[in-house]
Amino acid sequence: MSTNKQFLQDSWFSKQPKAIMICGAFFTGLIIAIIVTVPTTIALSRESESSKTFTKSKTVEDVSLQHISLRVGAFNIKSFGEAKSNNEFAFKNIIKVLSRYDVILIQEVRDKSGKASVKLWESLNGTGIPYGLVYSERLGRTNYKEQYVFFYRANKAELTGKLQYNDTREDVFEREPFTVELSYFSLENVVKKRIALMALHTTPKNAFVELEELPAVMNLTLGHFKRSHGIIAMGDFNADCAYLSNKEKSTLELFRKDGSFRSLFKDSADTTVSSSTSCAYDRAVVYGKNVKVSEAKVFDFQKAFDLTESEAKQISDHYPIEFRLQ
Ligand SMILES: *[C@@H]1O[C@H](CO)[C@@H](O)[C@H](O)[C@H]1NC(C)=O
Ligand SMILES: *[C@@H]1O[C@H](CO)[C@@H](O)[C@H](O)[C@H]1NC(C)=O
Ligand SMILES: *[C@@H]1O[C@H](CO)[C@@H](O)[C@H](O)[C@H]1NC(C)=O
Repeated sequence: MSTNKQFLQDSWFSKQPKAIMICGAFFTGLIIAIIVTVPTTIALSRESESSKTFTKSKTVEDVSLQHISLRVGAFNIKSFGEAKSNNEFAFKNIIKVLSRYDVILIQEVRDKSGKASVKLWESLNGTGIPYGLVYSERLGRTNYKEQYVFFYRANKAELTGKLQYNDTREDVFEREPFTVELSYFSLENVVKKRIALMALHTTPKNAFVELEELPAVMNLTLGHFKRSHGIIAMGDFNADCAYLSNKEKSTLELFRKDGSFRSLFKDSADTTVSSSTSCAYDRAVVYGKNVKVSEAKVFDFQKAFDLTESEAKQISDHYPIEFRLQ
């Protein structure tokens, strides 16, 4: 017994320096852990706080299809710049069109100073809903430039990314596709989802070549937005009439009925305001199996706002295309 006791005592005393070292190491570790984790915890709790506010503002609202899906539009507002923004009639009606949507892509923005776009933004905010704005660079091979501009309702979607496709080497696109990634509440499971929305306004005389390239660019872009459940390319593709023959169209992967890309608008759609033309220039194409869309249609604002053809043409020569994203 005594030898055992002696042994324990010996062993305790001989091990004491080691024990002190272990304790020291333990406390040093603890201090480091505190230094590292406390700021991270604060940052994380801030993050969850902000997402909580986002959640709260959604759940207090009536949980209906309106609130947990996005109404998306794409509108070629023919040559939108200062002159058009100063045309009171046109401007007032443009706001009426744009404010239908939770997310709206506008094309043919020719607004070097940016004043016309800010005026749009102010007027949209003036409807009582805060809007976000994202825009591409001024794009085009010559001095003629256009911008892609997205407005989105900040209480329904959050911007989580953007990407300008750059094809300077191959130079296929006159105005390279510009993509935004948005996070929004989805009807499915009432969870937040991300979607990539790609803008394209093709150059009419080269529509076929640009549309031939588009599937690869959509695929590549979706690869960039890894958390997105799909990508939708939309805009004035000039995909009809004089700019794209049926024969050409039938060879395009983008419009193949049995392929990976889903076209939301048929060739029979008419996206032109002029009563003498019926062309499905404006399109939206989905890539991604889990993307659920409904209510795809052309918004005929001439009829909806009870305008004459010449009044409607002051607004644009195109009607917007629209759909609901679930
Ligand atoms: C529009 O509202 C958003 C969100 O409140 C704000 O950030 C933005 O500055 C406003 N834009 C203009 C032009 O007032
Ligand atoms: C593409 O890259 C080139 C070279 O880096 C640059 O000069 C050009 O502005 C870029 N274009 C776009 C549309 O981003
Ligand atoms: C998309 O890209 C991946 C990876 O390069 C490829 O395996 C796939 O076949 C592409 N899909 C389409 C529809 O082009």
